[in-house]
Amino acid sequence: MKLFSSYPLGDIELNNRLVMAPMTRCRALGNTANPLMAEYYRQRANAGVIITEGTSPSPNGLGYARIPGLFNQAQAKDWQQVTNAVHNAGGKIYIQLMHTGRVSHRINLPERAEVLAPSAVPFSGDMWTDEKGLLPCSEPRAMTTEEVKMTLDEYVQSAKLAIEAGFDGVELHSANGYLLNQFLDPATNQRQDSYGGSLENRNRFVLEVAQAVTREIGATKTGIRISPHGSFNDMSEYPKLPEQYGLLATDLGALQLAYLHLVDHSALGQAKPLAATTEKVRKNFRSAGGGAIILSGGYDKQRAEADLQNGTADLIAFGRPYISNPDLSERLLQDAVLAVPDDSSFYLAGEEGYTDYPTL
Ligand SMILES: Cc1cc2nc3c(=O)[nH]c(=O)nc-3n(C[C@H](O)[C@H](O)[C@H](O)COP(=O)(O)O)c2cc1C
Repeated sequence: MKLFSSYPLGDIELNNRLVMAPMTRCRALGNTANPLMAEYYRQRANAGVIITEGTSPSPNGLGYARIPGLFNQAQAKDWQQVTNAVHNAGGKIYIQLMHTGRVSHRINLPERAEVLAPSAVPFSGDMWTDEKGLLPCSEPRAMTTEEVKMTLDEYVQSAKLAIEAGFDGVELHSANGYLLNQFLDPATNQRQDSYGGSLENRNRFVLEVAQAVTREIGATKTGIRISPHGSFNDMSEYPKLPEQYGLLATDLGALQLAYLHLVDHSALGQAKPLAATTEKVRKNFRSAGGGAIILSGGYDKQRAEADLQNGTADLIAFGRPYISNPDLSERLLQDAVLAVPDDSSFYLAGEEGYTDYPTL
């Protein structure tokens, strides 16, 4: 089966085509990696490549409780225990850089950090805080043009730290309504400067970040995740969306990124992304010189193999199945029964529902 065949991703060789999808798990007390997280990822090193939980490149991007950051040397050192554990177990690991932007509560941020977004458009949802429970998300302040450039620099520094910490590469989270996605969407980006207005302007920040990160660590170590037509975190639908993402995919492909990772959250109850858009995105990325296509969302073995065989995808990401099946690749290989994840423990602190799922 193609699912269990090796694959050259950027400058590394994957043992199989399974990707562990990025999943926030809120075990990073003090916003830094720890031995429990190293154990969790070590258990899942059977994936061709692991993409870590969303990790903030900036103090301003730590909008959720207990999510990790990577913006200083101490955090880089703490992440080393994770990359060592995975590499010693024969696995590969990318880190997902996620800046939460307006999907945030200031209680979750360190002192002096701020809830920043492309524009001062609040997110209508609530945010968990360990101190006061569920609270409405904080109103963001619009970044100045200078702050946009400073934020770009934070991504570059974080990517550099990621390589120092031993990661095989970096995934830029430009999906699911977080900061980069907030720049793409006209409902959250109402800027008047060169980062807002036309679709080219709304693509600009994502492209500048991708370009600057590739310049720092190399395109073979840089991937990106996008979610065209995704509605998570109040992302909107608008007439020129297919055109915008088509253009974005071409420009990302021209940077020769290691991969483009597409989100489909219809398995989580959201609308199915339009096939015409995702087809165009895949085609444009590949023909402009981009690397692998990773597809995600509601996959089982059969559908994964079908999409690999028909060439729609080069790699398939599994999310929830990896939470409850640390030895997922082995179970799929043997057609073993899959354990069902307990969603009440997705975001708890501690081992429960995290490192205590048994292997076969
Ligand atoms: C607990 C949980 C946390 C998640 N956190 C992230 C995240 O940090 N970054 C991200 O891009 N997607 C995140 N996702 C989305 C998953 O990567 C994936 O797209 C989604 O679960 C659908 O795939 P699945 O059907 O295989 O689970 C999360 C999903 C779950 C269930």
